[in-house]
Amino acid sequence: MNHTELEALLQDMSLREKIGQVFQISGQLLAEDSAAMGPMQEMGVTQEDLSLAGTVLGICGAEKICKIQKEYMERHPHHIPLIFMLDVINGYRTVYPIPLAQGASFLPELSGKCAQMAAREAAAAGLHVTFSPMTDLVRDARWGRVMESTGEDVYLNSQFAKAMTEGYQGNDLAGEETLGACVKHFAGYGAPEAGRDYNTVQLTERTFREYYLPAYQAAVDAGVALVMTSFNTVNDIPATVNKQLMRGILRDEMGFDGVLISDFGAIGETIAHGLSSDRADAAKRALEAGVDIDMMSGVYPEQLEQLIRGGKVREELLDEAVMRILELKNRLGLFENPFKGADPEKEHAVILCEEHRALAREAAERSFVLLKNENDFLPLKKEEKIALIGPYVSRKQLLGGWSFLGDSGDTVTVEEAARALMPEWNVTFAKGCTVLDPGTKLVGFGEYREEAYTEEEQSRLWREACDAAREADKVVLFLGEHFLQTGEATSRGILELPQIQQKLLREITAVNPNTAVVLFTGRPLDLRLVRKHAKAVLEAWMPGTEGGTALIRTLTGACEPTGRLPMSFPYCVGQVPVHYDEFPTGRPYHAPDENRFLSKYLDIPNQPLYPFGYGIGYTTFSVSPVCLDREEMTRDGCITAKVTVRNTGDRPGTDVIQLYLHDVAASVVRPVKQLKGWQRITLEPGEEAEAVFRIREDMLRFYTADGTWDSEPGVFEVIIGESSASENKKSFLLV
Ligand code: NOJ
Repeated sequence: MNHTELEALLQDMSLREKIGQVFQISGQLLAEDSAAMGPMQEMGVTQEDLSLAGTVLGICGAEKICKIQKEYMERHPHHIPLIFMLDVINGYRTVYPIPLAQGASFLPELSGKCAQMAAREAAAAGLHVTFSPMTDLVRDARWGRVMESTGEDVYLNSQFAKAMTEGYQGNDLAGEETLGACVKHFAGYGAPEAGRDYNTVQLTERTFREYYLPAYQAAVDAGVALVMTSFNTVNDIPATVNKQLMRGILRDEMGFDGVLISDFGAIGETIAHGLSSDRADAAKRALEAGVDIDMMSGVYPEQLEQLIRGGKVREELLDEAVMRILELKNRLGLFENPFKGADPEKEHAVILCEEHRALAREAAERSFVLLKNENDFLPLKKEEKIALIGPYVSRKQLLGGWSFLGDSGDTVTVEEAARALMPEWNVTFAKGCTVLDPGTKLVGFGEYREEAYTEEEQSRLWREACDAAREADKVVLFLGEHFLQTGEATSRGILELPQIQQKLLREITAVNPNTAVVLFTGRPLDLRLVRKHAKAVLEAWMPGTEGGTALIRTLTGACEPTGRLPMSFPYCVGQVPVHYDEFPTGRPYHAPDENRFLSKYLDIPNQPLYPFGYGIGYTTFSVSPVCLDREEMTRDGCITAKVTVRNTGDRPGTDVIQLYLHDVAASVVRPVKQLKGWQRITLEPGEEAEAVFRIREDMLRFYTADGTWDSEPGVFEVIIGESSASENKKSFLLV
């Protein structure tokens, strides 16, 4: 349809029909019996509202969606198609690593390919829109949703936001293999006070604009189709009804002209926030703020008719929202083909196909971060007798907290992969203990039950593990968080492995100190105990369907871990939020200065246990001092910065050389360093190569004291190294 036809359609729609478009319903209501109507009726949603709804959340499957779409359109007065939306976060059925792990790859282009693969599967299964990417900046490991972000750095996040958006959407939203992307959660959701989910967010305007907005902006610039509001307040007003944020910043300043959808129930929740006085007030405020779709609070269908008929809300506001939704339906090609990519045969063929599994495997391999490797403990050697021990050895749940579409039954476990890939090796397996301490209860989506053992069975598992450890040359322990300890509503105040696993770690390493630990986590944990007892530590995150295979290939040296931390791993929870791009203080502390009045703790170091950007491989590298081609740069000029990187070990390997900049004195305090680029360098033993970075004036800009994005003349430090902890630097002057 062209715009004139869409306008004509809008003009012809009744008020109730228009209100239907801004209302999103749960897929269960359409797919199943009317019993599920209960909660909707309580919200004041009628059967008529259901039949006029514009979009659906939470249903998938080509056959089911085609049937619903067909019946729905036949009944609809103007035969307007529905949009089917769902959270396809790290894959549809072929699950690749969680977003935080993808951040660790420092390979946005690979995440772009993964998003494309997810879109291919999901589109064949009938979906039109995914609620991804989540580009919230995260600095507090207590917040369970750090797993859905690509980490603590604004530049890294922006690169991933762009790549994922482009991956999902391709060149044509109407294509049969693409999805509309929805960037979330606008804005600042990743900074809840004390790391507690849904809690208040307090950010200064400068911090908000400089660190939190750019990744959403990157998605908007990449043409993202939708934006989702966040649950939190921004400047003391819930984002979902924050007109200044949504109309002022998102639409006018950032140039977003797509569909704005609320988060789940968020419009209604503005009453509990203490902002909206009642549901009518909430509906009015949200529409005035420019929220086009009400996800699941039922406030729009319940309140808008009365508000408009009573003259309290202008109908033009509703028309504006409906027009944006119709335009999205049009961009998705649904007026021409309401079934888009839905195709049961293709769904069957593409889901978990070998090409997709191979990509999931590659993404997992690239996401692993080696944190410690004493005396080249890893990779394992064929002549060694190996014991693979721990609750994650034969565990299928490697998909993460957001994969209700993935089936853990499809997962290749560590044990399965070892049996397939290490047939000639001398390997034993033992579980040792459960993931969770006995008695821990976690609530998941739907029915979920963790395995339970009697005391006798538990002692047997323990004994078998100790025996296996005793008889082995080397042990690899597979430990981690439970997947239900990560994701939405999973904030944690203690960032340690469950007690039972800590005990296993202590006992196994006492029996056999030649032990490495592989960690399955959705967030940075306090790893002091692990670092102390293990000879090698590999962070494997939640690696997805092919996680087991990727791990065995990595542990046996068929591939090398090249991931780098996308979030600082705190020394302990008392340090969080901790991030590398902190501001200098007036009393900086550099150990071992004994002056009492410096910015430090009495009982813990200032530095995280493992800093942002850190990660090692199976070889070692040296990085030469930074070399600049000039000492001064003009605004329209550029400086070339170089280091020579040399593989000083005896295996080929890849390093991720990172460029950071520091503005030494400015009209507002600048971070001690900020990531501005990186390069992967692969070298044979003894080989060397240059990592070359071009520094331009636009890389020096920031939100200045007078509120403009600009650079200021003065001294800048160029820091190039293997992590954010590098102090390898040289200065130049911007004139
Ligand atoms: C609530 C979450 O905050 C959001 O990220 C998600 O997309 C919606 N639920 C829909 O599942």
